[in-house]
Parts: sequence; C-alpha cells; structure tokens
Amino acid sequence: MMISLCTLISAGISLTSASLSSPNACPSWQSQDLNLRSLAQKRRFIVGSAMPASNLKNDVDGGKYAATAAEHFNLLELENDLKPPAIWTGPHDYHFADVDYIAGEPGKKGWAQQHGLKLRGHVLVYARDEGYTLPQWLRTKGPAMSKEEASGLLHDYIKAVAGRYRGKVAMWDVANEAIDDRPNKNPFNLRDSFWFRKLGPEFLVLAFRWAHEADPRAELYYNEYGIEGGGTKAQHMLDLAKWLKEQGAPITGLGLQYHIDCKTSIAPGDGHYQLIDAIRKLRLGYMITELDVAVRMKRLPAGDPNRGLIPEDPADLDLQAKTYASVFQMARSSRNCHGINIWGLTDKYSWIPGFSRGRDGAATLFDKDYKPKPAYQAIVDVLKR
Ligand code: XIL
Repeated sequence: MMISLCTLISAGISLTSASLSSPNACPSWQSQDLNLRSLAQKRRFIVGSAMPASNLKNDVDGGKYAATAAEHFNLLELENDLKPPAIWTGPHDYHFADVDYIAGEPGKKGWAQQHGLKLRGHVLVYARDEGYTLPQWLRTKGPAMSKEEASGLLHDYIKAVAGRYRGKVAMWDVANEAIDDRPNKNPFNLRDSFWFRKLGPEFLVLAFRWAHEADPRAELYYNEYGIEGGGTKAQHMLDLAKWLKEQGAPITGLGLQYHIDCKTSIAPGDGHYQLIDAIRKLRLGYMITELDVAVRMKRLPAGDPNRGLIPEDPADLDLQAKTYASVFQMARSSRNCHGINIWGLTDKYSWIPGFSRGRDGAATLFDKDYKPKPAYQAIVDVLKR
C-alpha cells in the first residue's frame, strides 16, 4: 500500500476528504509547516474558532465543517450554545445536551476532546438584558426578585455549568460586555443590566469567585467589545480589571473581542499596542477572543444566497489578510497573549452579514466553499517567523 508523504504528515492531526481523495496531492495549506494548527502547536500558540454545536453534531456540508475545524484549529468556542439563554431553561433547570455533545457528559469525552481541541467557555454572565443574553424567564420574573434570590440563582447557575465541565474548559469568559458604550453615572460606567441592578458591581466579583470555586484550574476572563485600540471604554475596562484584582477576584486576563474591518490599521506603538501594554502593567494576560475582519459586500437583497459573501472590491481580501496578520503579529510580540480565537469558521456561517444587514461579510479565514482565503496564508506566515 502506498502512503503519500502528505498522509504521513497529517497523521495524528486528521485526514480530510481532500487528502483521502487524492492521496499523493498535498495542497500547500495542508503540508505540515503550512498548516495553521500544526504551526500553532509548534509555537505553543492557541488558535481557535467559534462554532455552533449543531454544525458539528449534524455533520453539515458533508462533514467538511467538522473536518476543517479539526484540521486547522486547536481551540473551539461555542458561538451561542453556552450562553445563559441556551442553557438556563428555568430556576435550577438546565439544558446541557448540545454542550455535552462537544464537551462530553461528566466522565465522558465529547467531540472536542476526541479531536484534541481545547475548549473556551462563552459565557457565564452576559451582562445585558437582551433575548440572546438573559433568559426570557429571568427577564420576566427577575424584577420581582430580592437581591438574595437573584444572587442565589446566579451562584447555583455558575456552579452547575462551570462545575459540570470542570477540567474540560481551559478558559471561561466569566462576564461579557458589562460596560456601557454611552457615559452613565455607574462605577466603571457599568451597563444598567439586570445583574447590576440587583447586585451592584459586586456581581462581577462574585461571578469570578464562584467560577474559580467550580473549576479552580480554568483561566478566567472579563470579555469586552469596542475597546480595541484604546479610548474611554478601554480605560473603564482597565479600571474595572484593577478593581476586580483589588477585590481578590481570581481574574486571569481580559478578552478583547476584535470585531474589526479590513481597513483597521494595527502597528507597534499605536493604541492597540498601548492597550495590551497597559494590561501587562496590571499583571494580567489577554486573549483576542472574537476576531473577525469584515469586508464591504456587494449589495444583494435579503434572502439572496450570495448575500454577505461577495466583496464589493476583491482587493479588500488582501487588505483583510494584512489586518489579520497584524493582529497575529501583535499577539506574537507580546508575552501576555494567551491566544487568538476567530469568530466563525467559514464565511458561510459568519454572523457578520446578518449583523450588518448585508453591508459587510466575508470576515473569516475560509470562504463559503471552505477554501482558505489570503488571510489564512498571511497568519501562517506570521506564525512561521
Ligand atoms: C453573536 C453570535 O455570533 C450570533 O450568532 C448571535 O445571534 C448573537 O451573538 N459579542 C459576543 C458574542 O460576545 O457572543 C456575539 O455572538 C457577538 C458579539
């Protein structure tokens, strides 16, 4: 039996349908030193992708989705399945089946462990009151609750979720988006959310404490958007992180979302670098947690299958590659970076076209046919250095 070099090289990582169907051909992005996952392993760098559990569970696109995830990444974050509205079905009532498929029921392995991917948990407390952040039953019943009742519920929730996956989730976003965009009178400009109204800023300290008790070895992050490159909101985040540390909250670092566009410039000495330096001075780590780099799209009506997939200017994909590379470059140049997670595996399922109502899209590393885009090669080149 003839075994190609490519097959040997990919052994231990995974065999994709591409390498199986043409055993002697070795596409450049699949050979050992050009594969993102194997390069990241070599550099001890964490590079992940956010995915819906259902795409893995249902083997969508003939298994291409799952094969691409396992081939190119060493970290997996569930895009929505670990948010409170997906899990928290009622007081002390939880839906774990979807996450169990990925993380395994207690004592068992799930898809992530079977494929050697670490897990990033998103998110224990999503500190805003929308439908995708706070369970509907809590939005309805919450206002009548006492402080003790609310705090007891949050305690039990964090213990139940972080406890169930203890030892399996390498890092948690303990709290997300707690800081408001518009100025208000709250400490650290905290958002007027259900948890803030009930417990004050203390809800953040408690959430970190309870998460740590539930899974003492997991890294714990405060995650935020709109802070990239510095500014007022970034300063609030730094002040909050400092205060959390002073309160004894077991915080590992800050999660910087990085939903940016292809025109964003990131270079040594600028606001982006200054922010991570300020984080380092607080003796904290950071992760780029939700990186996607949006490109302006050709305008297509809602419902068109190509909406959000065809760039207005194809040259923007090269600009996008440069921007992706500059984020990886910044991460590689700083000692306190714990890894990068990309928000979406392929353009086909990215949230950006929906979020921008078709204005932007093509924000991930793989196109709708799972072909690596110039950005893929650009980050591989950064990791090769
Ligand atoms: C987004 C998901 O990608 C969408 O599928 C969902 O409809 C809304 O939420 N910041 C976060 C993520 O922390 O949880 C958000 O995810 C994107 C912005």
